[in-house]
Amino acid sequence: MMRRKLVAGNWKMHGSRHFVEETLRAIVAETEMLESVDLAVCPTLVHLPLAESLLKGTRISLGAQNVHDQAEGAYTGEVSAPMLAEYAVTFVIVGHSERRQLFSESDKTVADKFMAVQAAGMKPVLCLGESLQQREQGVTSEVVLAQLDAVIDQVGASAFDHAVVAYEPIWAIGTGRTATPEQAQEVHAAIRQHLAGRDREVAERCRILYGGSVNPANADELFAQPDIDGGLVGGASLKAADFASISQSAS
Ligand code: PGA
Repeated sequence: MMRRKLVAGNWKMHGSRHFVEETLRAIVAETEMLESVDLAVCPTLVHLPLAESLLKGTRISLGAQNVHDQAEGAYTGEVSAPMLAEYAVTFVIVGHSERRQLFSESDKTVADKFMAVQAAGMKPVLCLGESLQQREQGVTSEVVLAQLDAVIDQVGASAFDHAVVAYEPIWAIGTGRTATPEQAQEVHAAIRQHLAGRDREVAERCRILYGGSVNPANADELFAQPDIDGGLVGGASLKAADFASISQSAS
């Protein structure tokens, strides 16, 4: 089956009002003709209202990088899924390795956030990925599939009809070191096969993005792999021309 590809920019903690305005205007102009690919940009929380107004009426969806699992309450500094949904947010990244590592998010927390995002009518982008040490120990698929199972066990496989998966090897994030297309394809196929063990049709429909130093020079080869359905792009998504070029590779 043909899955429509998705390219999502993860801006992380970068930007300013001026940057958001300039970069989104350029991205909108440079990707206007790319009708066969879905596009999304995930700015910081504080830039969501500005991004929402700039993206209104365009083909580019809005995403958030994080969310709390509760709908409201005494959680100083946090933002809930219903709050994000008010700003035309379509996608919410959950379980990014930076959140797992730097903010100690457990598999359980990630599953709770996944549920909260769907309960508010948005789509989680569930990030999975192994460390360099785990890859060298030969346990990549065990690690990635255990992260996946932590969510499937809580929400069921059918929930993945309204979600996106992103395979992001930690050693490839922000390092300029990309997984080879073969390395990535191998893990993507394992993820899809594992999902298929629970629900074959959902597995066929679910988009699995690759993330980790995607750039204009390597995107074509990565996106040509049968189980790679687009990319979650960090550093390169901060440059409109690079993001547009990567999006072109997916179209
Ligand atoms: P990168 O980040 O493209 O800068 O490696 C990807 C990500 O963390 O989502």
